[in-house]
Amino acid sequence: MAEAQARQRGGYTDDGSAMAESGVRFEVDGEIATITLDRPEKRNAMTFATWSGLARIGESLPEQVRVVVVKGEGPSFSAGIDLHMFTSDGVPGQGSFSSAAKSGEAGIEQRVRQFQAGFLWLRRPEIVSIAVVRGHAIGAGFQLALACDLRIVAEDVSFCMKEPALGLVPDLTGTKPLVDLVGLAKAIDICLTARTVHADEAMRIGLAEKVVAGGDLDQAVQDKVAELLSTNREAAIATKRLLQGAQARTLEEQSAAERSEQAARIKALFG
Ligand code: CAA
Repeated sequence: MAEAQARQRGGYTDDGSAMAESGVRFEVDGEIATITLDRPEKRNAMTFATWSGLARIGESLPEQVRVVVVKGEGPSFSAGIDLHMFTSDGVPGQGSFSSAAKSGEAGIEQRVRQFQAGFLWLRRPEIVSIAVVRGHAIGAGFQLALACDLRIVAEDVSFCMKEPALGLVPDLTGTKPLVDLVGLAKAIDICLTARTVHADEAMRIGLAEKVVAGGDLDQAVQDKVAELLSTNREAAIATKRLLQGAQARTLEEQSAAERSEQAARIKALFG
């Protein structure tokens, strides 16, 4: 049993050193996986290795997992990219933006594509991902929260899309969910001012599903996970697929998609 758990904890990689370098912990307990950003002394600042680590978790997520909880150790969810990545030395062993810039535009795009893979899988229909956000969620940290399906936040949350203030664009898949959630005007306001969004506003504009006192955060997440696990797994997957496709379809197309998903469900349940 202990051995099985250890294997699952290793989950995304059998290489413990890569896991340690990524600054991410990963645990699986039955249908629930928990990803913890684990550099609290640096406010969970992320490096290239963090994003590669997230991608590897996605690649090897055990099939039984239905809910993925993403959280940060310590007072902040994440202070975004490790600012040492902007120095010419970078973070030891992980390169820097200066070294990445030498690879030319196509090379940079290829690197960013790899990093984005660490975020995109959190939207898979087979899982529901929940970002549990306390304190700062800045830049890449904000985008990681946006990559999840749901955000449950503490009263002290502060979201900030810092990239434009640093001469960059948000490129870790955050722009589309932000616009989908809050609308274009509000997304422009939030990103192009790099201002901070606090809990009340986050709740009001749809960035957060729930705001609770910091001490109640774990319980609120446990309750949401239990609610999510109470529905039928296959129906949940099919329903998420339908909901995800809804915006891009006409009413007629969406109705057809509903018919098709339901036919498969009825066949599976009663056929
Ligand atoms: N990178 C590296 N180290 C960081 C860090 C970061 N992003 N954020 C915080 N730290 C470190 C601090 O240097 C400090 O380390 P030492 O104790 O060794 O000095 C430690 O974490 C604690 O930080 P603070 O004392 O500053 O803690 P605080 O609670 O007073 O403030 C904070 C927290 C508001 C997050 C502040 O640390 C801060 O503003 N950090 C920088 C945030 C930032 O600009 N991030 C970049 C976002 S853009 C992005 O993410 C772009 C992208 O993906 C391409």
